[in-house]
Amino acid sequence: MSVFKSALTPETAEGLQYHIHLKPGDVPRYVLLPGDPGRVPLIASYWDEGRKISEHRGYVCYVGKYRGVGLAAMSTGIGGPSTAIAVEELLRVGADTFIRVGTTGALQEYVRLGDVVISTAAVRFDGVSRIYVDPEYPAVASYDVLLALIEAAEILGVRYHVGITASSDSFYVGQGRPGFKGYLPDRWRGIEVKLKELNVLNFEMEASTIFTLANIYGARAGAVCAAIANRVTNEFDPHAGITEAIKVANEAVRILYEWDELLRSSGKRYLSFSVLRSVLRR
Ligand code: URA
Repeated sequence: MSVFKSALTPETAEGLQYHIHLKPGDVPRYVLLPGDPGRVPLIASYWDEGRKISEHRGYVCYVGKYRGVGLAAMSTGIGGPSTAIAVEELLRVGADTFIRVGTTGALQEYVRLGDVVISTAAVRFDGVSRIYVDPEYPAVASYDVLLALIEAAEILGVRYHVGITASSDSFYVGQGRPGFKGYLPDRWRGIEVKLKELNVLNFEMEASTIFTLANIYGARAGAVCAAIANRVTNEFDPHAGITEAIKVANEAVRILYEWDELLRSSGKRYLSFSVLRSVLRR
């Protein structure tokens, strides 16, 4: 039986984390974060090799290699609270680059079912990020992760859109869907229309938590989500675009790895077009 250090630091002497049951060294720096535990083996099915290393409290984790690059995929569960635990504990075991791979409801008519949405930032309609920091603090994606996701979508020929996402801890009322017996407080009635007018692309439930925590801790994060719903046309297909979002996320890790190596070898801190041009010239 594992012995945990204390209530304040619920980890074992080896650093095994209470919820995710992983310890330092178990995962590489790049971790894909789907909400659904069932999607983890699906993500790994596109890798050169992959194996399950843990499953606890809904946090299923696989590690492996995609096109030679070491990576992991771990489920976050639905919404902010379980996602914040996932990010907190993954950071403690050595991960520093997170890509959410999820599903989403499009708020713009031109985003078709099966398209993917790559987030530049997320409106913080979650609860947990407000516990961490005031609502004025921005939930932004890391520009290099964002660019890698765009590049991956281009390479793979996937239909994609780039822009602001809204993340809510509520699938129903908080996304303007009537609750049981039609319950819908004024604050959330028509929220999907208000956000559409503000040029927000989509609703999902985890990106703002991942982005906020990643920024606070100096880690990196991005998000790519498959549009399984369109709130303007009122269409819904729970399978649309999931394969495409997974492929984009996996490929983005390979690209980021290449860029990270380039930065390391050139001694540069930030990715820029001049750094990228120097590779093309080689
Ligand atoms: N996920 C969400 O959070 N909302 C949707 O409409 C679809 C997927």
